[in-house]
Amino acid sequence: MSDLYAKSDIVDVISSYTTLTERGGNYWGLCPFHNEKLPSFSVNREKQFYYCFGCKQGGNVTNFIMQTENLSFGEAVEFLARRAGLPMPQMVDDMRFAQIKQKKQTIAQMNKKAAQYYRDALYSPKGTEALKYLKNRGIGEDAIKLFGLGYAPDEWDSVAALLGKEGFSQSLINESGLVTVKDNKQYDMFRGRIMFPIINAIGDVIAFGGRVLGEAVPKYLNTKETALFNKRFNLYGINILRKQRSAKSAVIVEGYMDVVSMFAHGVKAVVASLGTALTKQQALLLKRYVSDCYIAYDGDEAGETATKKAIDILETQGLSVRVIRFEPGQDPDDFIKKHGLSGFAEKVKAAPGSVGYKLNCAEAEHDLSTEDGKEAFAIEASNILSAIESPITRERYAEQVSKKTGYSQTSVIGQMQKKSVNKNISTSNRYNNTLKGDNTDAQTAFLSYSMANTRYFEKASEDLTAEDFLTQPHKNIFSALCECAKRGIQPTYAEIISELEAQEDRNEAAYLAGIEVFADDPSAYLEDCAKRIRVNKRKAERAELFAKLRGASGDEKRKLLADIGRIDKELSEARLNE
Ligand code: CTP
Ligand code: MN
Repeated sequence: MSDLYAKSDIVDVISSYTTLTERGGNYWGLCPFHNEKLPSFSVNREKQFYYCFGCKQGGNVTNFIMQTENLSFGEAVEFLARRAGLPMPQMVDDMRFAQIKQKKQTIAQMNKKAAQYYRDALYSPKGTEALKYLKNRGIGEDAIKLFGLGYAPDEWDSVAALLGKEGFSQSLINESGLVTVKDNKQYDMFRGRIMFPIINAIGDVIAFGGRVLGEAVPKYLNTKETALFNKRFNLYGINILRKQRSAKSAVIVEGYMDVVSMFAHGVKAVVASLGTALTKQQALLLKRYVSDCYIAYDGDEAGETATKKAIDILETQGLSVRVIRFEPGQDPDDFIKKHGLSGFAEKVKAAPGSVGYKLNCAEAEHDLSTEDGKEAFAIEASNILSAIESPITRERYAEQVSKKTGYSQTSVIGQMQKKSVNKNISTSNRYNNTLKGDNTDAQTAFLSYSMANTRYFEKASEDLTAEDFLTQPHKNIFSALCECAKRGIQPTYAEIISELEAQEDRNEAAYLAGIEVFADDPSAYLEDCAKRIRVNKRKAERAELFAKLRGASGDEKRKLLADIGRIDKELSEARLNE
């Protein structure tokens, strides 16, 4: 691997994606991940990482290729190896990587077994009612088969027993998300539910959604996060969209049922965002297969809010967006059942682009029969139009606004707020190293300084644990540093970043790496940071115990007081209680 990194200099690699100019020891360019007019994307040759101050993306050269080329880690390594003219690196010696991969494969095998079991159950006498439910909702045999729908019978441990019998280890079964463990016993996670397997682009069952047959709550239960499944990275239906090779556009809906029902009615390119706000990763995934999309969320207010957020995310990733709206209370499934494929086709034809949609929303919020309403709408509309780059397109919409409000096109265009883009980048790259009492500050300084001066880390971190850190990325970065210290290496930035699995963590690490912290006495400085982190953590624990004390009595109260006493002793002994 080190050979590969030596031959894949980050500045060289990134230069084929965006033009970089050297300034102040760093290379700067327009960010390949978001639209911008002034460069806020920085690349550091010495430390071999990139970081964008605009969209806060960062990482090493492999992460960059993963993101720009939409590749997995292994694929990105292969891509770089090919670029550098090297043979594919042997990754089996990377133990951690191999272990995680193995775990993912095993969970996928368990999911496959479970999906087969659920499918068979749907067609067994136990599934009669579930099958009837699906048929009543207009889901035919073809759609059931294509989506691999099934039924989890209302039993306590059928799947747990099945997986045990198949020879999967108990600990991996516990990590599959298919069972819950209570009092050391495994119970099936899904009971008495219609099962929707969530299948990724390469055909692995990565998770499940399960719907109750009637009105009980929760209506849906989804696989929790596992080594194989992170819902932010997946779209329901992507496996099927992938096969529609000629599709240029796809419809994005909210729910499982919407996808299955739209498909059953003839809309073949449709995916759902798995019940969360659409993420950037989902937009990138979609962009692998289509360039245009139609957002068709539920007709309620939540659907409208989600639509607005999704527009920004999709457009930032370069997808062209159109918007379909339904009556309040109606979702795509309800609509297509009532109006059929031709009704939906009309909606598609009439769907406005994002600007048209935002203008429609703004118009609906104002009363255009009054002068005040016209003025307020005209001002809001100009703000919306200021996001349009093309002067011609701007004029087209300005004309519409002008017609509706009576204000001249010149006024509408003149009103457009020039958003200030002249943020001073170099100052955001500095960190004020006079520590405030704030714990986030101490944590940022501690991690940032430790990454730059790894040899002081081991001693300074002696009394800290990952739990002392507030955010998940900070916890993970701390653990990565510990991991390297344990192996006796003083890691480079690139090595720390490659220890981190979640993109969120790598972004934070790259951000921390870009901060400059100055200290005359490095070890004293780090120890001071560590002390503050510990004090703040203990104080928070103390406050929590105190809050519990109010309602406590007897033994519980005695125990709480003892715990508080212990913290006080610790604080004063270490003379930490400044
Ligand atoms: N969802 C969830 N958990 C819930 C409710 C919803 O995960 N308790 C997710 C599911 O992915 C669901 C989506 O949010 O498909 C949309 O929710 P909703 O519109 O309520 O469900 P529908 O898919 O429309 O299902 P149905 O038509 O059967 O009510
Ligand atoms: Mn529905």
